[in-house]
Amino acid sequence: MSVFKDGLLDGKVAFITGGGSGIGAGIAKRFVEQGAKVAIFGRRQEKLDEVVGSISGTGGKALGVSGDVRSYDDVEKAINKTTEEFGRLDILINAAAGNFPAPALGMSSNGFKAVVDIDLLGSFNACRAAFEPMSKDGGSMVSITATQAWVPTPLQCHVGAAKAGIAKLTQDLALEWGFAKIRVNAVAPGPIGDTEGMRRLAPQDPKEQEAMQKIMPVGRWGTIDEICDAMLFLVSPSGAFITGTTIVVDGGQALLGSAWFQKMMA
Ligand code: NAP
Ligand code: COA
Repeated sequence: MSVFKDGLLDGKVAFITGGGSGIGAGIAKRFVEQGAKVAIFGRRQEKLDEVVGSISGTGGKALGVSGDVRSYDDVEKAINKTTEEFGRLDILINAAAGNFPAPALGMSSNGFKAVVDIDLLGSFNACRAAFEPMSKDGGSMVSITATQAWVPTPLQCHVGAAKAGIAKLTQDLALEWGFAKIRVNAVAPGPIGDTEGMRRLAPQDPKEQEAMQKIMPVGRWGTIDEICDAMLFLVSPSGAFITGTTIVVDGGQALLGSAWFQKMMA
């Protein structure tokens, strides 16, 4: 059950990269429940179609556009398609990302670049392409970072660098684009259960997973719904005076510092 009143996003249009699965798909569904029309963007059309189908099945309006966030052209075309279809753009969520666990010495230059390009360049591309339509009435951009952005983490130097870059980009764009009534923020989730990210990073053994959850200050993984709550808080009028910051939604995981990640990635 949502703690927010209904209809918070009535009449709004959102563009969500990485909206074909996991956290991004959860955000798309939540925004539609709150009255928004959404366009979701990712490489694989079949994943997008599934999410669009489930939203349409509940009477919501959604559009799936395939492309790669690393291509400015792909992103710009998809945003143009969104405004042609829905008439405006109020919200951008950058959820697209890539991750694989690898030590720096087990990673090629191209492996590092792949993740930095998807996460950091991809977020810049979407923010840059969304600026013009969003500047008509103002709006809100939120990128997903991660606690790896500031907690030293083994096997994640590519992700940490990319996510730290997004946090800084968030501050700079907030400073530059306030004049256009565009707020720019980030959300840094901790470990979120039942996601691709955790399938790639968490221990496979359920007993080890349980032990890792117990060490968390809140004693459990987070849920996709809890990230949706933070997103809704930021993009709705409750976030009207918030720009240029990262909201940490991690159940206290970052407080445990590098030691927690060392155990998690062992
Ligand atoms: P996910 O389901 O794999 O979501 C990532 C999405 O991005 C996928 O739908 C993927 O679809 C899309 N994508 C990947 N590369 C792309 C590209 N080059 N161009 C366009 N789309 C691309 O993973 P998730 O776990 O929900 O993660 C969502 C976000 O939360 C990410 O930013 C992640 O870093 C962040 N996060 C997750 C956790 C966690 O515990 N899961 C913790 C902290 C932060 P295609 O493959 O079809 O393109
Ligand atoms: N260890 C080391 N290097 C790896 C690797 C691994 N586990 N997986 C991929 N790489 C390297 C590849 O070898 C390649 O480098 P090379 O050309 O020098 O050999 C480079 O990364 C790019 O790989 P490629 O498969 O061509 O990239 P892609 O653009 O198709 O995919 C990834 C990007 C690798 C990030 C892929 O995992 C992906 O698409 N992920 C999206 C979903 C996701 O990660 N979700 C979790 C979000 S938290």
